[in-house]
Amino acid sequence: MEELISRIKQDGRVLGEDILKVDSFLTHQVDPKLMREIGRTFAQKFAEAGITKVVTIEASGNVPAAYAAEELGVPMIFAKKAKNVTMNEELLTAEVYSFTKKITSTVQISRKFLNETDKVLIVDDFLANGQAALGLIKIIKEAGAEIVGVGIVIEKSFQTGRGLVEETGIPVLSLARIAGFEDGHVIFTEADL
Ligand code: G4P
Repeated sequence: MEELISRIKQDGRVLGEDILKVDSFLTHQVDPKLMREIGRTFAQKFAEAGITKVVTIEASGNVPAAYAAEELGVPMIFAKKAKNVTMNEELLTAEVYSFTKKITSTVQISRKFLNETDKVLIVDDFLANGQAALGLIKIIKEAGAEIVGVGIVIEKSFQTGRGLVEETGIPVLSLARIAGFEDGHVIFTEADL
């Protein structure tokens, strides 16, 4: 997606060996116009797929997922990383290890929001080591729902995530794919959309 790639070139900052900071338009401050385009791009790709729910994981996944869901005209569900007092019904859970934060968290979705008739599109902001996506896949499968695809805003193709998700047989569609970083610059490889 050209508009996204230009924005990463303009405003993305490379931190250390393997982190891209995009907090001015995606992960902290949000550019709604760009997010709408992102949502539209995912929605167009999956327009004929009969998607009934978009699923993501909090926090930064919520933004592109909500725009995609709006365009598809379906609800968006975000897996929660902490249980609160209102979550008193049956929960579907998965343990997700974060390589960047070095912590494992239990992510959860209320059973009542997913069932066997659902066709799900997973959307997330980053695909790095894939643990978040694999956790969501486990939860959605446990609900008996079908997973149609995984839509990613920024994929770091030099990490293991894409391969791990594709091993499950679910297609990955990334709007920007990063081959690596060189002298503080982002090197892109061909995106899926
Ligand atoms: P994964 O998401 O593929 O499982 O990989 P990893 O464990 O490495 O990532 C953990 C968290 O760090 C995820 O956010 C992921 O979106 C984020 N992340 C990974 N690589 C980058 C990067 O290069 N830049 C930025 N900005 N974020 C990255 P999270 O902990 O699930 O949640 P949140 O930060 O959205 O709350």
